[in-house]
Amino acid sequence: MEEKELNNEKMNTEEPNYIIRSMEITDYSRVKELWLSIKGFCIRSLDDSKDGVERFLNRNPGLSCVCELKGEIVGAILCGHDGRRGCLYHVCVRKENRMHGIGKAMVSFCMKGLQKEGINKVSLIAFSTNDIGNAFWHEIGWTKREDLNYYDFVLNEKNIFTFNQIQ
Ligand SMILES: CC(C)(COP(=O)(O)OP(=O)(O)OC[C@H]1O[C@@H](n2cnc3c(N)ncnc32)[C@H](O)[C@@H]1OP(=O)(O)O)[C@@H](O)C(=O)NCCC(=O)NCCS
Repeated sequence: MEEKELNNEKMNTEEPNYIIRSMEITDYSRVKELWLSIKGFCIRSLDDSKDGVERFLNRNPGLSCVCELKGEIVGAILCGHDGRRGCLYHVCVRKENRMHGIGKAMVSFCMKGLQKEGINKVSLIAFSTNDIGNAFWHEIGWTKREDLNYYDFVLNEKNIFTFNQIQ
């Protein structure tokens, strides 16, 4: 099968000033602030620390992205791959800026980056209770797998996770 052609996602013209660009480690504090504002997000003490994110960005140069509006970061995705499968983490758009096509355009940015690196498939985990996230992935055409179980194993107990408790 041929490589899938990805649409050039247009930004909603109501907000023509959005810029989507690769995430740099200098964005970290603003991206972390955004993560902390997202209800239900699971933040990991080691993986989501500055060192953890820097390691991830260095392993996957240019693939993660942020969306900026008037100098503020209103969206972000961590994107990487292991040489075979792409993965997305912490896909988010600031609440006030949702439903303007930003999420979709950022996902498209990441998928194009993965395609350039010869990656043929990309996946992510969404909590089954995350109605917004699941509706989004469904709307933008991703396949929900019903035929597999997700397994993991904790390698470092110090990587403590907390869920954002925002109303
Ligand atoms: C999920 C999220 C990133 C979507 O960002 P967004 O910028 O609002 O999404 P977009 O505007 O690009 O929407 C793309 C499509 O999904 C649809 N969509 C987005 N959110 C939706 C929702 N809550 N319910 C139904 N459809 C939704 C849009 O209508 C649009 O459909 P279209 O392409 O047919 O017009 C954002 O809601 C968010 O940050 N949520 C909290 C964090 C989260 O749950 N992340 C996902 C973790 S798995």
